[in-house]
Amino acid sequence: MGNILSTRQMLLKAQREGYAVPAFNIHNLETLQVVVDTAKEMRSPVIIAVTPSTIDYARDEYVVAMARVAAKNTDTPIAIHLDHFENILKIKQAIDVGFKSCMIDASKEPFEENITKVQEVVAYAHRYDTTVEAELGKLVGIEDDLVVDEKDSLYTNPADAVIFVERTGVDSLAVAIGTAHGLYKGKPKLDFERLQEIRSKVSIPLVLHGASDVPDELVKRAISLGICKVNVATDLKIPFSNSIKEYFVENPNANDPRKYLTPAKAAMKKIVQHKIEVCGSNNRY
Ligand code: 13P
Repeated sequence: MGNILSTRQMLLKAQREGYAVPAFNIHNLETLQVVVDTAKEMRSPVIIAVTPSTIDYARDEYVVAMARVAAKNTDTPIAIHLDHFENILKIKQAIDVGFKSCMIDASKEPFEENITKVQEVVAYAHRYDTTVEAELGKLVGIEDDLVVDEKDSLYTNPADAVIFVERTGVDSLAVAIGTAHGLYKGKPKLDFERLQEIRSKVSIPLVLHGASDVPDELVKRAISLGICKVNVATDLKIPFSNSIKEYFVENPNANDPRKYLTPAKAAMKKIVQHKIEVCGSNNRY
């Protein structure tokens, strides 16, 4: 039925209608199936996100092939997205094999270098109708091989965001407003005023990274103030892994992957359902 899509229409529709498209990080066939099957059941558009080390692990052509099969069998809008890629060559290679959405993460570079890198990716990606996300500011925490200490974290400056978006021609912007990758030490504090100010100055879709372990009401508020893509990784990995651990405690001699992965998929599915509800993306097509 469908094809793999870029995130352009998906995010603009979400922005117009005031919800967010969830971007779920997957690692293998099972986690991709949970994300796609659940999105399909709930009639939610969905973004399947893969980090560089997931591509090293699962390989880009396999990910594209799995996503193509998923899209072919449903009218659910599905995008596959390169998450936190720093290497431009790798982004180009993944676009060449069929990725239609990418993030160039040059957020740790100085402002001008960040702009230059994003410009290069935008010039390449747009030729293939592929959308580009970039990040301004720095999120604390660990995502993939990317580690940012608290002292190095940096909130997005709204005035810089305007210049950044204008000069790069980027399609969506990840903002640093107090979320972190991974779990939080205390309750996260989000800078909603900053988000509002960025939104009032920047018209492209805004992205919230590090949405795991953030109370639902804070995520909903961020969406109401202009976030239209919400990234979730850790909150899915935990129930999936815990379920496998529990399975082996109860069945120490088990060795059939279908037996221990089936409950893991079910545990992850509950969280995917919940996140879709928090994003308000169900019944949107
Ligand atoms: P979490 O692992 O904190 O959900 O962050 C995911 C993310 O932002 C992926 O880009």
